[in-house]
Amino acid sequence: MATRKKIGLIGAGNIGGELARLCANKELGDVWLYDIPAKENFAKGKALDLEQNGSILGYDSSIRGTANWADLEGADVLIITAGIPRKPGQSRDDLVVTNLPIIRDVANNAKKHCPNAFVIVISNPLDAMVYEYKRVTGCSKQKVVGMAGVLDSARFQLFLAREAGVSVKDVRAMVLGGHGDDMVPIVSMCTINGAPATQFIAKEKLDAIIERTRKGGGEIVNLMGTSAYYAPASAAVAMAEAYLHDQKRLLPCAAYLEGEYGYKDLFIGVPVFIGGNGVEKIVQLPLTDAEKAMLEKSAKSVQSVVDVVKKTT
Ligand code: APR
Repeated sequence: MATRKKIGLIGAGNIGGELARLCANKELGDVWLYDIPAKENFAKGKALDLEQNGSILGYDSSIRGTANWADLEGADVLIITAGIPRKPGQSRDDLVVTNLPIIRDVANNAKKHCPNAFVIVISNPLDAMVYEYKRVTGCSKQKVVGMAGVLDSARFQLFLAREAGVSVKDVRAMVLGGHGDDMVPIVSMCTINGAPATQFIAKEKLDAIIERTRKGGGEIVNLMGTSAYYAPASAAVAMAEAYLHDQKRLLPCAAYLEGEYGYKDLFIGVPVFIGGNGVEKIVQLPLTDAEKAMLEKSAKSVQSVVDVVKKTT
């Protein structure tokens, strides 16, 4: 009887490789690293390197590379990074034209081969790509989420911890809204182990941290010439683990809204419980008026990119 879970990683690039390493290290399941035919050997080589790593680190997960969707048949989890990452000077929204045909290709194949998978989309522009994935596959809103909030919150938490001079382990904060420059760090609920962060950090410092968080991805693109991959992969693996281990974690994720927070037919970052049934519940937080206004601005930006997507269907 097969008991190991099957994890399909779509895109064997920078994030895909780090995803494979983390999934194997945590023994979440056996991993298939998929890429386009032109990159098949690259995917196979990366997979082999990572599998050999297991005999040093001590994990038994198998990791295989492929360019054949049939190998992903029946996957339990799919994490999608297929696409082109940002270059310096580009916004995530600038990627819509290049990454749209890619997400459509992936969605059509996933629908055929992995209809029951829990799907985490990472490709940018995130909120529009996850919208298009759901539209093409027709999958349920419980089975597909976008990874952004866990990463943006991690950046926010780190900057807060450094400013306050405390352990990053004690800082809890959530970033909601779209995965763009007007994302919404929720200051009213940001705490250092329960104590309001505003008690430790002056307003002007907080404002600067919010600004740095919003541009957090771009800061790395400008330094490296490509987008981040360690923290994005860790964020997606935390979400996959919450599903595979039925952890009921409350994580900020891009989820499909049907009236929550006043938005419909849109994916944006909101707090959701992730467990064995996927997105089990969307949590509505009592936001301040200023936070609601920021969320509205962010939702409008996401909607404008989704409108571009809709025009090309
Ligand atoms: N199917 C599968 N893989 C594809 C497809 C496709 N149709 N098209 C492209 N890819 C692959 C590329 O061949 C490449 O190996 O996706 C991979 C992307 O890897 P990288 O270029 O290293 O990009 P990465 O840093 O991993 O980011 C991927 O995540 O954060 C977002 O903005 C980022 O959209 C980008 C994505």
